Amino acid sequence: NHPDLTTRLKMQGVCDLLQSSIGYYDWVGFYMAHATEPTLHLWSQAGEPTDHTVIPFGKGICGQVAVSNQNFVVDDVHAQDNYIACSIHVKSEVVIPLFKDGKNIGQIDIDSNTAKAFSQEDEKFLEWVNEQVATIL
Ligand code: SME
Repeated sequence: NHPDLTTRLKMQGVCDLLQSSIGYYDWVGFYMAHATEPTLHLWSQAGEPTDHTVIPFGKGICGQVAVSNQNFVVDDVHAQDNYIACSIHVKSEVVIPLFKDGKNIGQIDIDSNTAKAFSQEDEKFLEWVNEQVATIL
């Protein structure tokens, strides 16, 4: 399930804009579920490149959100045991599921080098971002 080029470029634009305009959004990416396999795939990202471009459902914060369908706010990543570290600088993280026609088809993942960076306001804002992105999918 590869996105077409236009979709990929638009989602890249969203990542770039969020990462460059919000100081504590150090890494921004969209992980999207494979059409048939229980894996998440990194479609676009802004910030340091990561080796974790494919994440199995259930693994890490992202993999947990793929099965829970719930927002996951992590104030301190070091306090999590089911966590996949992408950078030693990351201190907190938020993952918000992206729904299309009521189905959890992926997520936006934001890492911050600041501890406890994400508030309910970020959650509401990122839910809205995902709703906008869903309209082009
Ligand atoms: N920390 C995530 C993995 C993705 S990286 O943050 C880019 C996790 O635990 O699922």
